[in-house]
Amino acid sequence: MPRPAPAALTPLKTLFETKRGVLLPLPPKLSRLYGCLRMPMPRSHPHVFSNFVTTLDGVVSLNTKGHASGADISGFNAQDRMVMGLLRAVADIVIIGSGTLGADRQHVWTAEAIFPVLADDYRQLRKALGKSETPLNVIVSGGGKIDLRLPVFTSDKLPTLIITTTAGARRLSKQDAPDTVEICATRHRGNVIPATAILDEVCRANPGRLILVEGGPRLLGDFYAKRLINEQFLTLAPQIAGRNTGDGRPSLVMGKAFAPRDALWGSLIDMRRGSSHLFLRYSFP
Ligand SMILES: NC(=O)c1ccc[n+]([C@@H]2O[C@H](COP(=O)([O-])OP(=O)(O)OC[C@H]3O[C@@H](n4cnc5c(N)ncnc54)[C@H](OP(=O)(O)O)[C@@H]3O)[C@@H](O)[C@H]2O)c1
Repeated sequence: MPRPAPAALTPLKTLFETKRGVLLPLPPKLSRLYGCLRMPMPRSHPHVFSNFVTTLDGVVSLNTKGHASGADISGFNAQDRMVMGLLRAVADIVIIGSGTLGADRQHVWTAEAIFPVLADDYRQLRKALGKSETPLNVIVSGGGKIDLRLPVFTSDKLPTLIITTTAGARRLSKQDAPDTVEICATRHRGNVIPATAILDEVCRANPGRLILVEGGPRLLGDFYAKRLINEQFLTLAPQIAGRNTGDGRPSLVMGKAFAPRDALWGSLIDMRRGSSHLFLRYSFP
């Protein structure tokens, strides 16, 4: 069956909602579309949350040329984009891995870039929250094989931080970095930087309290391994993508295994519906 036509932007139906956290001052249009949004604002540590979309059979990327983005998973769903924009609009920092950048090379991780229709409303929300115009975009790469001419590094007014290894920083130093780009080398052996070190560097660069991890699956796995994700927003898209042996289609978390030895259980704290898509929110202790 061909992909259904993208659903119109109608309000989500709140099935049940969390009462934890501070009620955020959403502008009228966002409030009508999403409902109430509360976010925990702990004083002692940042609140780290993640947002993904998955198929019913747990696939988060089709891993097929020209079809590797989250939009292919959600069916280019307008409500999913609206929620992605909303979460970016409240975030001080958005963190992604180099694989996610590679799948969407022309993208920048701001609210208006994912859903331009609501750009003014997202801007209004950031202003009401006293936040800077755009969240700090953080790119994590062990190897540092990143093209600094991409829009995420050259867009006006978008501050970017690359967290990499010493070897990665050496490789990156062969390119001219725009003034808005900071490159930070952590002192770790091997290509994988522990998520605790990533978070330390992020907090050093920006004192913001709301940190959004947009993945992808390998970066998210490292954050879950260190028990650093406080909440998972998860859009469940009503398609079965399927898998063939060796086709490399990832699920939410890759590169780390938790159950049964070290199982990670969350609690469902919020649920909304947009036609056949479900917008779920889990908290993790
Ligand atoms: N459905 C969704 O909601 C959603 C969300 C996000 C992404 N995706 C999809 O997921 C796919 C990409 O998957 P992925 O697992 O490759 O993404 P990823 O986690 O963004 O990228 C993996 C790469 O990021 C770097 N990296 C991640 N964690 C690191 C760490 N702890 N230390 C050092 N480097 C680290 C490494 O880069 P180097 O190789 O440069 O060292 C690694 O190869 C894409 O198709 C994307 O569209 C889907």
